[in-house]
Order: sequence, then structure tokens, then C-alpha cells
Amino acid sequence: MDRTIAVIDFGSQYSQLIVRRVRELGYYSRLYQPGELDQTGSPAAVILSGGPRSTSEKDAPDIDFEYLKAMGVPVLGVCYGMQLLNIKFGGAVCPGHTREYGPATLIPLSGGTLLQGLSERSQIWMSHSDTVSQLPEGAVVLGENLDSIPVALQWCEGFYGIQFHPEVTHSEEGMLVLKNFLSLAKDPPKFEIESFKDHLLESVREEVGERTVVCGVSGGVDSSVLAKLLFEAGVKVRYIFVDHGLLRKDEAQEVVKQFESVGIEIELVDVSEKFLARLEGVTDPEEKRRRIGDLFIDVFFDVAGDPDLLAQGTLYPDVIESATSGSIASRIKTHHNRVDRILEMKADGRVIEPLHELFKDEVRDLGRALGLPEAVVGRHPFPGPGLAVRCPGEITPDKLEIIREADAIFIGLLKSRDWYDHVWQAYAALIPVRTVGVKGDERSYEYAISLRAVVSTDAMTANWVHLPYELLAEASNRILNGVPGVNRVLYDISTKPPASIEWE
Ligand code: XMP
Repeated sequence: MDRTIAVIDFGSQYSQLIVRRVRELGYYSRLYQPGELDQTGSPAAVILSGGPRSTSEKDAPDIDFEYLKAMGVPVLGVCYGMQLLNIKFGGAVCPGHTREYGPATLIPLSGGTLLQGLSERSQIWMSHSDTVSQLPEGAVVLGENLDSIPVALQWCEGFYGIQFHPEVTHSEEGMLVLKNFLSLAKDPPKFEIESFKDHLLESVREEVGERTVVCGVSGGVDSSVLAKLLFEAGVKVRYIFVDHGLLRKDEAQEVVKQFESVGIEIELVDVSEKFLARLEGVTDPEEKRRRIGDLFIDVFFDVAGDPDLLAQGTLYPDVIESATSGSIASRIKTHHNRVDRILEMKADGRVIEPLHELFKDEVRDLGRALGLPEAVVGRHPFPGPGLAVRCPGEITPDKLEIIREADAIFIGLLKSRDWYDHVWQAYAALIPVRTVGVKGDERSYEYAISLRAVVSTDAMTANWVHLPYELLAEASNRILNGVPGVNRVLYDISTKPPASIEWE
């Protein structure tokens, strides 16, 4: 599994996306820093990413060119990567004063593999300030833009450069360019989840050895896949599930049962009372988060003690975003000294993160390959602080009860009407305002429930789902008739941004 398509990261916001696209094409790819070229093993091909810097800057990121050439594999420079290669081959780059960002047109010129099969005019996405001003001897222009500026080059056999981002969807034939480039690689390493699973099982066994691992579970996809991976690896594990009292209706029992059904016994720690007490009278959202996060970590380590090893469900995007994020650490949006403890454990080599090379949908595929039921791998995301972020204002047992009942009705309907799997996330929140209504012959003065269903790809942006009126009508009727304390049901039609997915 060590052979990769190595992507060298010059700092572009899209570097990770290149890795992703290469994997989508079926090949195993990883991101490396420019100084790690000698740690890439024997890659089948190398892609040099774009980056925000200018090659003319004094300490601009560099690459060991002699080493790169000696590797003898195809190399593709993207934007910054292309400019750097042009200089290395003896050409020149002219520093630009403004950054050009946006769509452009690529006109493929001659034959050759890289632009094979592209349209006569292909839409590309450019983002650069510098431009190639002088080509070294022997360089061939493979494609240019409408102003006859070279946007695709070949310097010599196997060395290519493009002045656009093939990895973004705005480059309409970008995937074809990547595919063409990878066709030049000799025996490129395939990315198949089955063999990746075997590789992971093997490396977990090796890493853990005779030690005991503690694995926090929540019922969410990442921690469930992690738990099943550890279980299948046959190592010694304690699975700990902290019930902070902010879970949905019957959730704790269902998660326990779900694990039981795949042979895993988990320790359920019910500390709901403690959490509710700690949250009494607190209305500030960040303060709520802080208290939940602090107590969560305290309870977790009280139960876990000083474990030999801690398993975390950190995914690839977390690794790249921050060296410190992890499933437990990321539950806590605010600082806490127990987080330092996780970092200390990490520094001691006592944290394992077996999923750290995977993207979210790959984790789902791995879960399926490990035999987890669809109900687990297809589960909607659920925030660490649970229902607390769906209950603005003070949290009380009564309010939580109302949210649980309303949420169960709404989610149950989405499932029975086949909408659940078409929605990224859905839930009921309580709006802590009492309004006037009529129930029977009496005036009521009760809370409102807001239903939310969104689609998203990464939770950074989201759109509300156009659920059928008939489904919404039924949800509303059932909630109004079946949940005491509610006399109004609203459907949230806010996009993110400016709204967020949760209420707090
Ligand atoms: P927002 O509300 O920020 O949510 O649009 C984006 C995604 O993150 C989840 N979320 C959280 N997850 N701790 C978590 O672990 C939190 O404090 C938290 N707040 C929001 C949210 O459910 C959505 O999937």
C-alpha cells in the first residue's frame, strides 16, 4: 500500500482535492510536503500542486529537482508546480501584480497524451498571478488560452505542466486531463476499499500489539467504523459510550443494540444527571458547549483511566486542517486542559488514528466492507453536544423530552416515506417562545417546534430540502396531536450561509 500517486502540497486550498480526484479515478494517492519527496517511497507518478506564493519570492517553496528527475516517473506541475518546473528547466516566470481567478478557455494544440480527447475549446479554472514568460529550449506548448498564452506544457518526456486546476469541477474536462496524465504512470497503485481494509487490519494489529485500546463511541459513522475495524482486527479494546443526556429518543439503547448485533459489547456510562445539573440556568451557547465539552472529557477519562492507547476517528480532512483535531478533541470547540492530555498522549505515541487517510465517503465504504449495517453507515451526522444545540436558551428535562418526541416523529416519517437517505441531516428543534393557541376548548400557551432538513456535501454550505407538503402536513399534525407542550410547528427554509445547520 506504500506505493502512491504522490501529490506534493505547495499550499493550494485545492491540494487535498487533487488527492481526492486521483482516488476517484481509482488510484491510491497521498499528500506530501515539498521536503518529504524522499519519503514518498517509489511513487508511480508525482503531481506538484498549486500554491498561493510566487516563485520569485525569496523563500518560495522549492523541490529537490535532481531527486525528482531521478525518480523516473511522470510528473505534472499544476499552477505553482508548473511555474516552478519551468524555472527548473531553465525558463522564466514573470511575477504578476494581480491574481487572476476564474474561468478561462483551453485550446489544445498538438497531439500527445495529456490533452487527448479534450474538446476544441475546453473550459478551465485558473487561479494565478505569475505567468510563464519564457520557455526553455525543447519545451512544447500543448495548449493555450484565447490570448495565446501557454496553459499546458511539456518540457521533456514525462514532465508536464498546466496553468489551471484540473481538480475543481469548474474545469469541465479536468478529470480527463488527470486520467490522461495517470495513464502515463507505470503500474499505478489501485485504490480498492477491500484491499485497503486488509491493509488497515494488518497495520492496526501491528500498531496495537498486546496493548489495550480505548475507543470512544457515539453511534456516529466515524466512531462506529473505527470500533468495527478494531473489533475485526482482534485486538484488546474497551468501547466507551458516554450518555450525556442530550441524546435523541431511545438513542443510547439503540446504539448499544446495534453494536451488540455485530458482536461488540460497549460500556454505556449514563451521566445524564450530571450534565443536566451542569447546564442548569446556562443560556449562552458557547458556555453550554464549553461545559458539555469539559465534562465530557472529564467523564471519559474518569472511566478510561490512563489507557495504554486511545483510538480516534480522525479523518483525512481533519489531519490536513489541523494536526490536533480528532473525534474527541473536535467535540470541544473551546480549549480545555484535558485536550492537552490527548495531545500529550499523541506526543507519546499513545493515540492511534487508523482512519486518518480516508475521506468521509470512503469511511462509509470501509464500514460496508467491514459488514456494518446500512442503518449505521448511512446515519445522519449528529453534533457532539447533542440536543443542546437544538434547544436555544436554558436546557430543561421537559424541553428535551419535547424535542425527543417531535424529532422521533419527524425522523420516523422521513424514514417511512423514503426521504431519510436523500437528506444530509434532519431534526426537530425547540423554539423557546410560548405562543397562544387553542387546544380543545382552552387557550394554550406553549412552545413551537422547528423542523429542519438540509442537503449538503461537506456541511460548509447547505440548502433546505423541498419536502412534499403532504409529508410536512403529516409531521405537523402528528406533533401537534402527539407531543404535549407544543402548539405550533414551523419548517425552517434557511440556507447556510447565512444560517447554520444547527440552531446554536
Ligand atoms: P453548523 O450548525 O455549524 O453545523 O452549520 C455543521 C455541522 O456540524 C455539526 N455541528 C457540530 N458537531 N459539535 C459537533 O461535533 C458541535 O458543537 C457542532 N455544532 C454543529 C452539525 O450537526 C452539522 O452537521
